[in-house]
Amino acid sequence: MQTLKPNQAFPAGFLWGGATAANQLEGGYREGDKGLSTADMVTAGTHTIPRTITLELEEGANYPSHEAIDYYHRFKEDIKLFAEMGFKVFRMSIAWSRIFPNGDDAEPNEEGLKFYDEVFAELKKYNIEPLVTISHYEAPYALAQKYNGWSNRKVIDFYVRYCEVIFNRYKDVVKYWLTFNEINILSMKFGFFVAGAMMPNGNSSFTDIEGIEEQMLFQSLHHQFIASAKAVKLGHEINKDFKIGCMIAYMCSYPLTCAPQDVLLAQQKDNMSNFLCSDVQVRGAYPGFAIRYFHDNDINIVMEPGDEEILKSGCVDFYTFSYYYSACVSADPNQEMISGNFALGINNPYLKASEWGWPLDSTGLRWTLNNIYNRYQIPLMVVENGLGAVDTVEPDGSIQDDYRIDYLRAHIKDMKEAIIDGVELIGYTPWGCIDLVSAGTGEMKKRYGFIYVDKDNEGKGTLDRSPKKSFYWYKQVIESNGEKLD
Ligand code: BG6
Repeated sequence: MQTLKPNQAFPAGFLWGGATAANQLEGGYREGDKGLSTADMVTAGTHTIPRTITLELEEGANYPSHEAIDYYHRFKEDIKLFAEMGFKVFRMSIAWSRIFPNGDDAEPNEEGLKFYDEVFAELKKYNIEPLVTISHYEAPYALAQKYNGWSNRKVIDFYVRYCEVIFNRYKDVVKYWLTFNEINILSMKFGFFVAGAMMPNGNSSFTDIEGIEEQMLFQSLHHQFIASAKAVKLGHEINKDFKIGCMIAYMCSYPLTCAPQDVLLAQQKDNMSNFLCSDVQVRGAYPGFAIRYFHDNDINIVMEPGDEEILKSGCVDFYTFSYYYSACVSADPNQEMISGNFALGINNPYLKASEWGWPLDSTGLRWTLNNIYNRYQIPLMVVENGLGAVDTVEPDGSIQDDYRIDYLRAHIKDMKEAIIDGVELIGYTPWGCIDLVSAGTGEMKKRYGFIYVDKDNEGKGTLDRSPKKSFYWYKQVIESNGEKLD
């Protein structure tokens, strides 16, 4: 007789690790013949002062990507620390402007390619699998200047050429790829930051998103969808064993009340914020609710003949996402909004929040995992999650970050519950496994890492690395394959 039994634990071979992005980590912004990237044009802000996009580099301004945490020179030391924690996987991005300094160059930049040869060799030394984001919130700045970024269809070809070069070069050392980081954030009006595109009204603001034309954003997004599909197809031709995924900033939205209007709104938000992009990338076609939204809002996506076939031919192999918090939605316009990273919602009275006001909700991660898996039934990976917090260095040099451990423990417990629920979860890479520059605020003091980096918001510090309490905690989590969480 056979009985049905749920999975009880993280599967063998589960990919535990950590996540980063080139512009928040590497520095060396002009070294090895790297070109300027769009991220290099964004100044640091603070919790309350927004980051600014400058069209020329301004003398004396603080651009956090220029030095970041100097991983460009210290990656060997950092990877050694990741190995000490037992990482199985390391999520990183390639800076496109290291490979094609202007984006449209005839030949790739050998110096840039060599840098990543060295990084991958170092990871291999410790059997750490790279998970590479091809474009994480940056593009060569020249593409923004000359073509207005992703609003221009020509950029698709530059991106695909870039993919061709890195796929061929690293085909034997990289298996897991993500085409675009948090592709859905583009539709949330961060045109320049995400797509290097200046809005027709000249608005390049980081935070003033009112009045930004959706037409251009959705057209740029369409270009990224085509680019992603072409990259997936090409990648599989270059190496049939490649696993190429999408990456969504998952906005977990609860209805504020059980009023049917709130419940419907939460579903609409889930559709438009989360599932529009993944329906295109996982299923290969625009979903009906998006087509209706375009129609109702006079948005006309210009498609070329063959676009629908391209989308169908480049469906991703797995689904990855970031999850930090949940928020509520309400049909009542008088509810007060809170802000998270690049997205807005309404406060949930049942939840506490981080120092940066992000609600703490590990149950939302379990809900999200089930919600996504119910829809697609393909392997999932949580490729960003974590607590941005201020850390204090004790007189003895230690950092007692129990708050971070509590946050991660709760989320890991809920991931396990989701696995028991039947979700096929294959990996977990908490964000900013080593302290790095915050994307939202440009600060250093908003830290996520297991490894402390001595650098402050003004850019001062020795850049020395030191393990926090969470470093040793995460090491035992990995060693026990997620069983030992105390
Ligand atoms: C995600 C991004 O949105 O959130 C990362 O992919 C970012 O690049 C992370 O750093 C955390 O946000 P923040 O603003 O705290 O850095």
